[in-house]
Amino acid sequence: MNRGVTPPSLSLKPALDAIGEAIDARFDRLLAVPDDPRSRLYEAMRHAVMGGGKRMRPLLVVASCDLFNVDRERAMRVALAIEAVHVYSLVHDDLPCMDDDDLRRGKPTVHKAFDEATAVLTGDSLFAVAFELLADEATHEDPFVRSELVLELARASGPAGMAGGQMMDLAAEKTRFDLATTTRLQQLKTGALIAFSVEAGAIMGKVSHGQRTRLKGYARDLGLAFQIADDLLDVEGDQATAGKALRKDEGAGKSTFVSLLGVERARSQAQMLIDQAINHLQGFGPEADLLRAIARFTIERDR
Ligand code: IPE
Ligand code: IPE
Ligand code: MG
Ligand code: MG
Ligand code: MG
Repeated sequence: MNRGVTPPSLSLKPALDAIGEAIDARFDRLLAVPDDPRSRLYEAMRHAVMGGGKRMRPLLVVASCDLFNVDRERAMRVALAIEAVHVYSLVHDDLPCMDDDDLRRGKPTVHKAFDEATAVLTGDSLFAVAFELLADEATHEDPFVRSELVLELARASGPAGMAGGQMMDLAAEKTRFDLATTTRLQQLKTGALIAFSVEAGAIMGKVSHGQRTRLKGYARDLGLAFQIADDLLDVEGDQATAGKALRKDEGAGKSTFVSLLGVERARSQAQMLIDQAINHLQGFGPEADLLRAIARFTIERDR
């Protein structure tokens, strides 16, 4: 199989560290704590978005924007927006009415460190901040580009995206889903926000339909593999390394690729999806090496 230019040794660590610092510095400025009764909300938002997480989605935004020479500061605004939506989804996912988790990114979850009402408002606020970032003129001078970013992130987050997938995920504890339904669940729950991160570069760069289609193919396979890797980590990972509670899915009776196929076949399915994702990038040269490296990292990761 021709996987194009894929140097196996491109380590993601420096890129992930750099994006982590850049994201933290920007959230630090954006979420300055006001000296009034909202301070608790800002503190909780900072607790949630700063100092943790892999920042995979921001890195995907930057990698896809770099393909089309999008200005880095503008790309970072989109990176912050997707990370804000992702973290909102985690804060709500951890609530007692959802997965009821105490640990996230190696720290107490927001409802543990603060309280449930603050956690709900933290999610609400991060969700709103994301759209404020995208709709601002500083993100792109073309209002059509800004509106497409807003449209696509709204679609990826709502009932036809992440929130819809979370609803299916709750149903997956009560009904045993087949592979096709589980695939759909994962595409919505996890795939949609990952797909937005990858497509953001194509939207910002106003690129051709063909290039966007290739990126979409990459994103679809990557998103699915990403959630299979998360489900494998739930079974096999180390909790201290992952920074969140593991061994939860089986107890909850959840249908996942792992529960349906077993560990070995789920792992080979994820590997096959990553090979396929990298194949979609064949039309791109070395400028897509970061996207290729992110794909490999997705299934090699231990957190
Ligand atoms: C966890 O996402 C939730 C899923 C969608 C599987 P990540 O594994 O990207 O979590 P962080 O951002 O690194 O904490
Ligand atoms: C959560 O999936 C996906 C979201 C949309 C937040 P999980 O419930 O499996 O994520 P973790 O394992 O808690 O990070
Ligand atoms: Mg969940
Ligand atoms: Mg969870
Ligand atoms: Mg999980």
